[in-house]
Amino acid sequence: MELLKDMTLEEKVGQLVQVPGSCYEEGFIITGPANFLNFKEEDLKYAGSVLSVIGAKKLKGIQKRFMENHPHHIPLIFMADIINGYKTIFPIPLGQGAMFDPALSKKGAQIASYESALAGIALVFSPMVDLVRDARWGRVMESTGEDPYLNSVYAKAIVEGYQGEKGSDDHPDLTKKGNLAACVKHFAAYGGATAGRDYNTVELSERTLRDEYLPSYRAAVDAGSESVMTSFNLLNRIPASGNMHIMRDILRKEWGFNGVLISDWAAIGELVNHRIARNEKEAAYLAINAGVDIDMCTRCYAGNLKALVEEGRVEESLVDESVLRVLTLKNRLGLFEDPFKDADEEEEKTFILCEENRREAKKAAEESFVLLKNAENILPLRDTAETAFIGPFVDSGLINGAWSIFAGDEDATTIEKALKNAGFDLKTAPGCVLSADFPLVGMGGKTRYVEPDKKRDKKLIKEAVELAERSGTVVLTLGEINIMSGEASSRGMLDIPSMQKKLLKKVSEVNKNIISVIFTGRPLDLRKISALSKAVLVVWQPGSEGGSAIVDVLTGKTSPSGKLPMSFPYCVGQVPVFYNEPETGRRYTPGDENKFLSKYIDIPNDPLYPFGFGLSYSEFEISEVTLDKTGIRAGSGDVIRAEVSVKNRGNTEAAEVVQMYIRDEFGSTARPVRELKGFERISLKPGEEGKVAFEIREEMLAFTGSDDIFRAEPGDFTVFIGNSSKTQNRAAFVLSPA
Ligand code: NOJ
Repeated sequence: MELLKDMTLEEKVGQLVQVPGSCYEEGFIITGPANFLNFKEEDLKYAGSVLSVIGAKKLKGIQKRFMENHPHHIPLIFMADIINGYKTIFPIPLGQGAMFDPALSKKGAQIASYESALAGIALVFSPMVDLVRDARWGRVMESTGEDPYLNSVYAKAIVEGYQGEKGSDDHPDLTKKGNLAACVKHFAAYGGATAGRDYNTVELSERTLRDEYLPSYRAAVDAGSESVMTSFNLLNRIPASGNMHIMRDILRKEWGFNGVLISDWAAIGELVNHRIARNEKEAAYLAINAGVDIDMCTRCYAGNLKALVEEGRVEESLVDESVLRVLTLKNRLGLFEDPFKDADEEEEKTFILCEENRREAKKAAEESFVLLKNAENILPLRDTAETAFIGPFVDSGLINGAWSIFAGDEDATTIEKALKNAGFDLKTAPGCVLSADFPLVGMGGKTRYVEPDKKRDKKLIKEAVELAERSGTVVLTLGEINIMSGEASSRGMLDIPSMQKKLLKKVSEVNKNIISVIFTGRPLDLRKISALSKAVLVVWQPGSEGGSAIVDVLTGKTSPSGKLPMSFPYCVGQVPVFYNEPETGRRYTPGDENKFLSKYIDIPNDPLYPFGFGLSYSEFEISEVTLDKTGIRAGSGDVIRAEVSVKNRGNTEAAEVVQMYIRDEFGSTARPVRELKGFERISLKPGEEGKVAFEIREEMLAFTGSDDIFRAEPGDFTVFIGNSSKTQNRAAFVLSPA
């Protein structure tokens, strides 16, 4: 690029510096610690990108002033954390995982990118595709769950939703209105944080890393993600932002990623905290060598890269490579032609949160709900007039999820509002204040922690109990406050706040027909709730149309069809618990009395509710698995077609998620007990029957063998097709040697 030749070293370094929006304008939402934020006037003059400031008018103003002062008038890229929507909020990503419907997530990403494009954004820090197995980690809400395949399919869909699909030049058309650059994160394996504690170290074998953690990032990169964000954690004791193996060998060389690699907030500066770098200069040295292009929110690059080049420790060509990548992205986004991209104050008013966007958000919320229990078919509600809606979430707008930092809680349709809209008589009671037992701080310092108000709670519980006593059925809304999950929100307990526990107990003493509706950003220990409720419906943090979706599902307008994307543990001591664990040498089968088996002596091995599980208002019969052939030969390119027929045996139109798992019976390394390899959502009317067919191809059987080669090993396999990870509906097939 001609421009690059013309730029001074200072200007070049500037392109690699990302500053927070507060440097230019008020109204910035802080999403990280401030300890490295000591930017100087000249940093702001040369910076390449800005984060977390949004709004067409505001961003146009910043861009205009910035470009006027920049020697080459190079525009900034505005980046922001758009996670499950900008203003129209879809369910949290974990809820989207429960939909088993990546096409709907793609639609959600399209809406999110169009809304944020109108508000001036050019790149979104999403999708987060980290594999998650530990419910204590607050950021499980931001992932689509514990399965590498499920996460990969979503990664591709969401990237394509933001950016559009790749064209003949292998890139999406980012100049198209509403298309933005995606940023897949957090590379790599951030979700493996030891003990579920955020920012903690990660210990993984290279094999587990490659076979289970990396596929979803790879899927996002293959789908064309224009940028990648480094993670905070160590991998093999080297922090990701200075990790040559991960960034250079795997991401750049093996996967051919040539887009922009951006550090997470202050992650380069934190190389000093890790005691990997003596100071910020050494941190900059490590990061630029690892190929990290943009330094988010520290002065490591701004303050040191120039000197490192002048001292001859860093080749200027290395800096040029990074600068070129940033400029290329700006060019692809069309910013040199139109630095405001799609920012539009007028359309912002009409498109954002419009009816159609809300409709899609509602559909997603409905599909995301997981019915875990429905004794005596208490759901759907038979008589709304006889039903009381109790609990602190009945009229709360805190249902968007911790990362919906730009959305208004007041824009979310609460259950109460939805009941009113649907013309139902209101029999509601909050039951208690939405309080927490420990301090909570939201993003941007917005504190939402409310201490339990004992006096008020006593009165509210009393009112709720009276209402429950005179009602046939109680819908009891319980769960985590939205900011109890998300970044920096790890938990040691997987329970609900104590005042809600008390409410549940008191209500259950006077009414046995409890339907618990659980709001949560993570799998919880639901033993008690499940024991005291006839039905349990997990609604995650359902977003802008959460309330209306809940009312439609409870009243049977729509049948629940979500499946758990993450196991719900029996208790916190089981965590991490996940369905696709490798085989142990001493597998325990319930009932086996042998002492020396892999088990707990006080709790079961199995989670309370397994991955892939979720009930419906209807009943589906899934036929035996038929295979069109029982073997394929390695290297032949042959495909097995595995088929089942699915019949809706109930009286309700409903959707079922049919799941295919494969088990490799023997391998040169211990193989997972089974692995998800396909799924399909099928909607059937009462009495209707449909066929679901999956292809089994050799590459789906590949893994990293004892020789470190990634390939399928010939041998015996079992395919399971059913409606949860526990299905025993199976058939056998063989992969014969080439
Ligand atoms: C830190 C988070 O880890 C990351 O996901 C986010 O995109 C950045 N902060 C920017 O807010």
